[in-house]
Amino acid sequence: MISRNTIDEIKSRIDIVDVISDFINVKRSGQNYKALSPFTNEKTASFYVVPNKGIFKDFSSGKGGDAITFVMEHEGMSYTEALRYLAKKYGVEIKEELTPEKDQAAQSERDSLYIVMNYAKDYYKDLLHKSDEGQSIGLTYFRERGFTDRDIEKFELGYALNEWNGFEKTALKAGYSPEILEKAGLIVKRENGNTYDRFRGRVIFPVHNLSGKVIAFGARMLGKEKDQPKYINSPETDIYHKSNVLYGMFQAKNEIRKHEFCYLVEGYTDVISLHQSGIQNVVASSGTALTEEQIKLMRRFTENVTVLFDGDAAGIKAALRGIDLVLKGGLNVRIVLLPDGEDPDSFSKKRGSSELVQFLKEHTRDFISFKIDLYTADASRDPIKKAELIRDILTSITAIPDPLKRTVYLQECSKKLEVPLSVLSIEVKKILLAGKTNEAKSDRNAPPQQDGLTSSLSEIHSLSKSFLTSEESLALFEREFIKVLINLGHYRTAEGEHAYEYLFRESQDVEFLNPVHQEIVDQYKIEVTEGHSVKPSDFMRALSPDTAAYVSGFLVQKYFISEGWKKHHIIIGDEYNVEQSSEKVIMQLKLGIILKMLGDNLQKVKEQKTVEEQNEMLEIQATLDGYKNDIARGLGRIVLPGLTSGQPGVKHFQNQ
Ligand code: GTP
Ligand code: MN
Repeated sequence: MISRNTIDEIKSRIDIVDVISDFINVKRSGQNYKALSPFTNEKTASFYVVPNKGIFKDFSSGKGGDAITFVMEHEGMSYTEALRYLAKKYGVEIKEELTPEKDQAAQSERDSLYIVMNYAKDYYKDLLHKSDEGQSIGLTYFRERGFTDRDIEKFELGYALNEWNGFEKTALKAGYSPEILEKAGLIVKRENGNTYDRFRGRVIFPVHNLSGKVIAFGARMLGKEKDQPKYINSPETDIYHKSNVLYGMFQAKNEIRKHEFCYLVEGYTDVISLHQSGIQNVVASSGTALTEEQIKLMRRFTENVTVLFDGDAAGIKAALRGIDLVLKGGLNVRIVLLPDGEDPDSFSKKRGSSELVQFLKEHTRDFISFKIDLYTADASRDPIKKAELIRDILTSITAIPDPLKRTVYLQECSKKLEVPLSVLSIEVKKILLAGKTNEAKSDRNAPPQQDGLTSSLSEIHSLSKSFLTSEESLALFEREFIKVLINLGHYRTAEGEHAYEYLFRESQDVEFLNPVHQEIVDQYKIEVTEGHSVKPSDFMRALSPDTAAYVSGFLVQKYFISEGWKKHHIIIGDEYNVEQSSEKVIMQLKLGIILKMLGDNLQKVKEQKTVEEQNEMLEIQATLDGYKNDIARGLGRIVLPGLTSGQPGVKHFQNQ
């Protein structure tokens, strides 16, 4: 057990911004800091850090707390693990309080896995540097590959003797149980019960997690034996999930932040050889297709990734397909194509570090234009191929979540392929719609909602056909949202969370049309994060005078509940129906956004000249109509008096 004094000492040294910055990219915003939530896939920052309170709050996942909580949540550590990590970071010596034997035995299994992996790492390192076999075979191998001592140390490379039970015997002698050795994947058990070391006669590449702990090993063979796999890797364990890890991220993360981009390569040796060349912002996917988790991991540190391809044409086209997932993850993708048959490792070995650095600088290309160029050579004379090419490139472009970026790429594409922009954008919409209709269809598996269906549908139809433009109706719904946020946000729902938590989570990535609404939402998040009261009267004081004046128009008198009144009405949630009101404004907001899209699209229908173009737009219109009805159906579950009246929300909340 860590002593009370040590804990206090650790706490006094913690700088929350510093702690969080080791894992995600935070940007200053006034006195505080903001970041993209590391716990969700959001596109707009709703993760707040308040340094002078030592706390963070993440509105899209609902998580919040101090630096210790953050490390626990982010790294999946226990409280003790997090404290140990922070103690190490801040150089605090841990004083243990004497613990009974049984407590030590009960130490969490994850803890023991980390401990045994660390032990194994030290064991393999020692052998590399101190044993005859390690020096003559392992170290010689690394030196031949041009690895410097500094990087051998930085990556904690090691060597496993060519023996069946060398590690096992030593570890057992040191007091590790056979069970934990097997759980950690360090030894393998045969059916007959005999065991042997997993890694034998190989050089060892430890895989680190973000905080630098060893969670797995990759072991490369030395020679060219035909009947053996080149690499043997640790199996999945409680602390190692291959699909969540990028090799080299621990060594690269600060450099990635500094350079604001990250190189992505294939293998362990590619990572290390780029480090030899002085390029440290590099990670490897370890030979498999990237996963969504790995993309999210990268996105914690940067939005820009440069993928290194070795240059044989067939391989490139196959690898390119995987890139759409990266684009979809919201990353900006650039590409460097290495000369035929070379990987970063062989290139730097043949031509030297400075030439590699120069090459990377000169040959980094934007992904989409790279793709266009790659294909235009064989497509320019063949119309069928050209059509295929266009569809392929457009599929990549539609994977990009940011509409502005999509437009820029489309323009580029139109220029390079000599196809009118209007034709391309119709194709894009088709692809987008095909995707969306699938999503919408799967949503419809939800049980049918009948209650109040007709009334709400007709209300919404009348609204969408009324004198209001779609923009006006969205503005109206935004205002409803703000109204509920201000008046009811501080109450708790039946689930026990604050209504604002629900509202923010559900409106993640909504950008408010009206900048004042956006300002109010941002300020609300800041107030909550800083621990200030967000009761309407308190929240008003946090706003600029103009905004406060605007907001005061929304305050519902009835919400100013006197203390005496409160005593008699303990269940405020029921009286005012916090859940229903919140759910309603969220759905309205979504509806408003759809209505606006419908309005914008209708305008386009009118502008299209050819019948085909008009048909395209009408098709879009029909799909949007489908969504509108889906949402309306959802809204139908909630009784909706006065939706179209001047003050829709107010009526609903009154305590009648
Ligand atoms: P060198 O041939 O030494 O340059 O190794 P490399 O690390 O560059 O490997 P390569 O380019 O052949 O493969 C890229 C990555 O795929 C490696 O770093 C490994 O992570 C993975 N990999 C390669 N071969 C195997 C294998 O036989 N088994 C497994 N599980 N992974 C492999
Ligand atoms: Mn290689």
